[in-house]
Amino acid sequence: MSEIGPPTAGGKVLWHFTMSLDGFVAGPGHRMDWMAGTSFRPGLIQEYVATTGAILCGRSGWDGIIDDKRPYGGEWEGPIFVLTHHPEDAAPAEGVTFLDCDAAEAVRTGLEAAAGKNLEVFSPTIGRQLLERGLIDEIDLHVAPVLLGDGIRLFDNPGGAPVALRRAAAADPAATVDVRYLPVR
Ligand SMILES: NC(=O)c1ccc[n+]([C@@H]2O[C@H](COP(=O)([O-])OP(=O)(O)OC[C@H]3O[C@@H](n4cnc5c(N)ncnc54)[C@H](OP(=O)(O)O)[C@@H]3O)[C@@H](O)[C@H]2O)c1
Repeated sequence: MSEIGPPTAGGKVLWHFTMSLDGFVAGPGHRMDWMAGTSFRPGLIQEYVATTGAILCGRSGWDGIIDDKRPYGGEWEGPIFVLTHHPEDAAPAEGVTFLDCDAAEAVRTGLEAAAGKNLEVFSPTIGRQLLERGLIDEIDLHVAPVLLGDGIRLFDNPGGAPVALRRAAAADPAATVDVRYLPVR
């Protein structure tokens, strides 16, 4: 069951992740094996494939990709932009542009390439920079039934101020979300 409905394409900047219940989007060392066994609502992947026009990620996430694996299990095709301070040592890959520029400029480039569809930001570090500058339109999360305890957090900002959010498509946008999980024995 989903309360938020399918994503819509409208030239938005989406910070989009599958996240552990305790707020991690990757395990230690960028491990993603914790996602094995997680299932998604039927049609969810296809909806994001249809509404995504371009992807922006960071160099660590890109370098961690094994065997040139593409987003959405290879179902999505489109331009990928990778932010890095040293594009000169990146291995060229089809459809991938390495950018060394300001994060806001990377968003402008990505949105232009997305041609009216959404730009998905697949990076906690870049998302944080964009959030600070008011450049994230939506945060789309799929909370997986797992606790990681360590790894890369969606939002790591020690010493920072809380960032207020409102929940999309909710009668009370300030209401908490109630969930109940049972440990697997
Ligand atoms: N759970 C999910 O759904 C999901 C989806 C996508 C990705 N992920 C995971 O998310 C993790 C991403 O990790 P991360 O956020 O720590 O790293 P990241 O953003 O992928 O990479 C950080 C690097 O990006 C570059 N960078 C960031 N901002 C920059 C800027 N303004 N200008 C130039 N370069 C910039 C820098 O590269 P240089 O050091 O080269 O300068 C920086 O070291 C990966 O483990 C990935 O697997 C999870």
